[in-house]
Amino acid sequence: MKKNDFLTGICEQIGYNGEGIFHIEGTTFFVPYCLCGEKVTFKVLKVKNGIGYGKVQTVLEESPDRVTPKCPVFTKCGGCQLLHANYKTQLQIKKQTVENTFKKIANIKACVENVYFSEDEFFYRNKLQLPVRDQKGKLAVGFFRENSHDIVETDDCIIQPAWCKDVIKIIKDFVDGKKVTAYNEITKKGLVRHVVVREIDGEFIFTIVINGDKINGVNGLIDRLSDKFGKISVYLNINKMDNNVILGDKFVLLYGDGKITLNEFGITYKIGPQSFMQVNNKVKKMLYEKVTSLAKEDDEYVVIDGYSGAGVLTAMLCKDAKRAYGVEIIKEAVDSANQLAIDNGLKDKMTNIAAPCEDVLPDLIKKEAQNKTVLVLDPPRKGVDLNILQAALNAKPDKIIYVACSPQSVARDVGVLTDTLKVEGGKITGFNPNPNPIYTIKSINLFDLFPQTKHVECVVMLSKVQI
Ligand SMILES: C[S@@+](CC[C@H](N)C(=O)[O-])C[C@H]1O[C@@H](n2cnc3c(N)ncnc32)[C@H](O)[C@@H]1O
Repeated sequence: MKKNDFLTGICEQIGYNGEGIFHIEGTTFFVPYCLCGEKVTFKVLKVKNGIGYGKVQTVLEESPDRVTPKCPVFTKCGGCQLLHANYKTQLQIKKQTVENTFKKIANIKACVENVYFSEDEFFYRNKLQLPVRDQKGKLAVGFFRENSHDIVETDDCIIQPAWCKDVIKIIKDFVDGKKVTAYNEITKKGLVRHVVVREIDGEFIFTIVINGDKINGVNGLIDRLSDKFGKISVYLNINKMDNNVILGDKFVLLYGDGKITLNEFGITYKIGPQSFMQVNNKVKKMLYEKVTSLAKEDDEYVVIDGYSGAGVLTAMLCKDAKRAYGVEIIKEAVDSANQLAIDNGLKDKMTNIAAPCEDVLPDLIKKEAQNKTVLVLDPPRKGVDLNILQAALNAKPDKIIYVACSPQSVARDVGVLTDTLKVEGGKITGFNPNPNPIYTIKSINLFDLFPQTKHVECVVMLSKVQI
């Protein structure tokens, strides 16, 4: 069995990245764009030490769950890994992914209670990140190929609303290669690197990311965007770094008031270009309502909301609590959360702290330990620092609600909190054969914020073990 061989097998399972898993003669193969039960011939791209990667050649026996993907760049662009599966199957795959991941990473037999699906299977994203490049002397606007920095050119995207097509057209017209150049990743020359757009209820924030300090003719671009989209703000973001990070540190507001005002859950708040915001508005609502209802206690309680973004969830949690703290690293988001607290009459019981959670949460959890406490954690993909989990195990807040966008990270962190993983010398060293848990999993709920893609969001509720 070697590179370039053609093999035929039956897809047994779907992996973390939405790829089919095959076992052939003692080797596990990962082959994207397959579904369970399908008989497939694939080309071996790489094989080593019992692990292999393949590319589908022919699907010999199709699953009844397979659908015809409605996108001309499907399998080329790295955006949608599950577009070939019907939506019901996508949800089953994600449920299985969460349960398998808990078992594999933390030896936990988990069971997803509910799957909250997206009413919109397509066109749901409120955010567009559009790379703009000079590729071999030619302007390329589109999306990155999976695990690559090649741009797959496209003039539309099936998970973005209709405005995406107009944005791509306007940006292509503007970056003409002469007055306004596109960034070239090899030469590190050229100006426009990315355009990031956020849209809420017909209001837009555009961020033009450039490898320079100014941009010729930007007023013409602003005129065109405002003619097309109405209420807009436009920022320049300066990013001269030689890395993959989209945004640089410096933002310059060129047009508009710079923020979008939202009114939801009875809370008025504003978000800017740097503040985190879930990309699927309708599923976000279900997610926040679930977290708020899980947090509720009969007696007086304090909420500590780690990784709190612009503060809307903190505010929802704060309404029923004695007081709530939000801890967030991005200053713009914390400024928004402070304004939210003033505008919504929550100033006296909502405290927003601009700092890394790993620096602040351990002391805060300890300080509030004498009160009934609900700890909410909504970290980025890498999960929660071990020092925070250990502080929680020492101070023992009454409930921990973990909102997770990475099944691997949440499985690991919940493994620490439920003692199925051993921690020695500040490191996770393996499964614990004799767990003596302080916390137990009460429920796991899945929220499909990202239809058509491999991405999974879940909420894990932990409570203290009754002794
Ligand atoms: C998944 S988002 C959740 C935001 C918020 N809970 C919401 O629903 O809008 C994660 C947030 O953590 C913030 N963040 C990332 N690393 C952090 C850290 N080390 N300490 C504090 N906040 C951090 C990000 O800026 C982002 O706002």
